[in-house]
Amino acid sequence: MSELSVNHLLGIKYITEEDIQLIFETADHFKEVIHRPIKKVPSLRDITIANLFFENSTRTRLSFELAEKRLSADIVNFSAGSSSVKKGESLVDTVNNILSMKVDMVVMRHPNPGAGVFLSKHINASIINAGDGAHEHPTQALLDCYSIRERLGDVAGKKVVIVGDILHSRVALSNIFALQKLGAIVKVCGPKTLMPRYIESLGVTFEPNLIEALNWCDVANMLRVQNERMDISYFPSTREYTQQFGLNKAILDNLGKEIIVMHPGPINRGVEITSDVADSKQAIILDQVQNGLAVRMAVLYLLASKIKRNDN
Ligand code: NCD
Repeated sequence: MSELSVNHLLGIKYITEEDIQLIFETADHFKEVIHRPIKKVPSLRDITIANLFFENSTRTRLSFELAEKRLSADIVNFSAGSSSVKKGESLVDTVNNILSMKVDMVVMRHPNPGAGVFLSKHINASIINAGDGAHEHPTQALLDCYSIRERLGDVAGKKVVIVGDILHSRVALSNIFALQKLGAIVKVCGPKTLMPRYIESLGVTFEPNLIEALNWCDVANMLRVQNERMDISYFPSTREYTQQFGLNKAILDNLGKEIIVMHPGPINRGVEITSDVADSKQAIILDQVQNGLAVRMAVLYLLASKIKRNDN
């Protein structure tokens, strides 16, 4: 297969295993490109991309921007503080702005679930969802699975536990979809109050005990507690959360086997993982960031090649 089955990347839910494999093979190529002395290729020279960030972001925004620059795209950036954004209004405004700028692709982060799907129905540009509320964050899941593939050779058959705030995490949902499409076995672990009620209907099992989960897994993906999405208290205190679900070096060393530790960032050092774990050889957190660049270059390149084809 040489092209994606979709014209937008709105969520992992909407793409196939073949799409993911194509993105990985293309990312392998771009990974080689970003290690060259001249890191820039002309692939997207005739493409204009708008990066619309209605919610805070550091690494995702930088990663997309750098990926676009490495591919020689023309880019425009827009960021808004999430507090000033009202759902319908702002998106319709966005639509009108985009239409008048004649952009080919839009990378959008938005606090409302479904914002990307909404936009894709109203404008004639290719949309990439860079995180829509607690719904999906597809490029994060792609880079996470790509990093597992790089470390362990394959994702199929691997046991992955996602630990923490599953309820509010778009990273968790996209990871569950991506890992399962690639044939991994997924468990979730964390306070029961931070587990969605439908979780087992997604084909994942809930393990309330961190040590049991770690003993079972090949890979542990430690998520941040999404305090900004909580309007009530889901556990008694941060200290108690860390006692039960925080990963420290002593736990890791007592496992009697080497597991891989992942984290999408931003890390709350000392809460979900301690500094010595984050900085240990078993943690692949910085590999994830580097792979994010190659994976996003691949997604942009593959979606852009579909735009050209549609124009003909
Ligand atoms: C995540 C996000 O924004 O969804 N971060 C990221 O994109 N690397 C996870 C988080 O905020 O905890």
